[in-house]
Amino acid sequence: MCGIVGYIGKQDAQEILMSGLRRLEYRGYDSAGIALLCEEGNPEVKVIKREGALSEGLEAALEKGSFSQSGIGIGHTRWATHGAPSDRNAHPHTDCHQQIAVVHNGIIENYSELQADLEQLGHCIQTEVDSEVIPHLIEHFKNEDHDILSAVRETVRRLQGAYALAIVDHSSNSSLIGVRQDSPLVVGIGDGENYLASDVAALLPYTRDVIILENGDLAHLTVDDVVIYDEDGVVIERSITHVDWDAEMAEKGGYPHFMLKEIEEQPASWEATLQGRIKNGDIHLPEITFTRADLETVEQIYLVGCGTSFHAGLAAMPMFENLLRMPVRTEIASEFRYRDPVLGPEVLTVFISQSGETADTLACLELAAKHGAQTVAITNVVGSSLSRKADHVIYTRAGPEISVASTKTYTAQLLVLQLLACHLTRLSGLLAGHEMSEDVRALLKEMPHLPQKMRDLLQDHAPIKEMARYVAGWQDAFFIGRGLDYAAAMEGQLKLKEISYIHAEAYPAGELKHGTLALVEPGIPVLAVSTQAHLRSKMSSNIEEVRARGGWIGLVTDLKEGRLIDMAQSVIFVPPTAPSLAPLLVAGVLQLLAYYAAVLRGCPVDMPRNLAKSVTVE
Ligand code: AGP
Repeated sequence: MCGIVGYIGKQDAQEILMSGLRRLEYRGYDSAGIALLCEEGNPEVKVIKREGALSEGLEAALEKGSFSQSGIGIGHTRWATHGAPSDRNAHPHTDCHQQIAVVHNGIIENYSELQADLEQLGHCIQTEVDSEVIPHLIEHFKNEDHDILSAVRETVRRLQGAYALAIVDHSSNSSLIGVRQDSPLVVGIGDGENYLASDVAALLPYTRDVIILENGDLAHLTVDDVVIYDEDGVVIERSITHVDWDAEMAEKGGYPHFMLKEIEEQPASWEATLQGRIKNGDIHLPEITFTRADLETVEQIYLVGCGTSFHAGLAAMPMFENLLRMPVRTEIASEFRYRDPVLGPEVLTVFISQSGETADTLACLELAAKHGAQTVAITNVVGSSLSRKADHVIYTRAGPEISVASTKTYTAQLLVLQLLACHLTRLSGLLAGHEMSEDVRALLKEMPHLPQKMRDLLQDHAPIKEMARYVAGWQDAFFIGRGLDYAAAMEGQLKLKEISYIHAEAYPAGELKHGTLALVEPGIPVLAVSTQAHLRSKMSSNIEEVRARGGWIGLVTDLKEGRLIDMAQSVIFVPPTAPSLAPLLVAGVLQLLAYYAAVLRGCPVDMPRNLAKSVTVE
């Protein structure tokens, strides 16, 4: 995700900002920039920003330029969500006269409305980035005779979405401003100097005393003072927290591994994925711009991806089928591309890829486009090859994922696919003059509750750790489920094998007796997933078959009591939700199971052997 650093004091701001940005590199970014308020003779805020890694872009640009030393500045590493990575789209963004510079983490949902209003007022917006409206709005309110603090306050009143902001203003060149709403921002307290950062990691060499800002807080920093205001401009007290992390812990947010951090980030990541996409019970996916004719032609859908992304397709497929009542198939990209599949304008193809660079998935998209099929990309990386080649792109907004094993990007893909299924159903219903179907209405009502349910589930790792302790002692494990539980099991087995090196296989539970049951020996772990009520009794019979051969049952279920539970040696409960959304919550359990098994076996969790995060070769 994006990173923010701000500094005010007597040291060289440029040096401190760059050191802070280097400490935020682990978060992943595609461009970076700084803005400095130079005291002597400079008529405007100095902004330097470049696409690419700090060491390639920004550092070289700073070496070439000659800037008079400054004690006030802001810096940013950008991870694109609106507008491709480029020098121009990098932060900081400025107003029309380069007097105000702003860096922003988060998403401004109503930026297009704000942009239209500002353009009407004569402002010139230069980038494709949602954040750019912010300095222009501040400029607008300053022109209306607001002082900088009140101009910022008026500005944030108009913003919808999530933001952490750091702001410098040429005309008030002895202060620095920070604002927070649903995106983290801390103030670092120094001696004769103060700091802003989105992440304490950026500040560790300078201070460990921080004020953690709350939603609605506006922090006004000068060299010797920090004053915090609430939304109405009333001064409020916030306590100082002393952080005793070392640098490595800080990089991982205090977690021992990125994978664990990324598993825990899922509730926040789902909130970002859903943000602005469900409003007043209805669905908004402006990224999908099908015409009536496009939609009416569609007779079949393919969901295509590799590895975990393929599993996201598997877990979404039944929802597409149930809602749209048309044939939907999930395909492994490396197979699909060599199969001469039936493709044409009547086929909608959806390509799923965290990186947006997977060679096989890209080749499938090219094949589909060549045959005139309509193409949709679902990816986490703005400006990735997949996003540039597809007719429509939906970003998953999960933030950068560093651990090789996909966790939060898998569930974000699944959530986006589910939104897409609802959206297409809603659109075709509208075309036919129908009201929103009860099924879609119920799903859109339940989705916003999922982040809290996942938070509740992730509260207590102890039972999952216990289950992992048993599994870690074996060299083989089986996962079973029916329907969507089988799709969830497929992803569970991949997670376990890739990071713990335990041989794992997932089977549709009803298929065991057709061969695999021969491998069930006393004690072998069989992880059974059961969240689909209509398949419960069938699942019970399959578990009985395993038990009869001495298999050890670890059950993941939303059921609180009953025969199924009595049959298992170990049970993990997931909060009840709509059946088609259950794989999202089951994922949290199976990710943690794999994580703890890998830790217990001493495996390098974040960098499993032989695997790469982005597979750009066939
Ligand atoms: C799973 O944990 C892996 N990271 C892997 O299976 C991955 O999902 C696959 O290589 C596809 O990558 P993509 O989503 O970037 O296309």
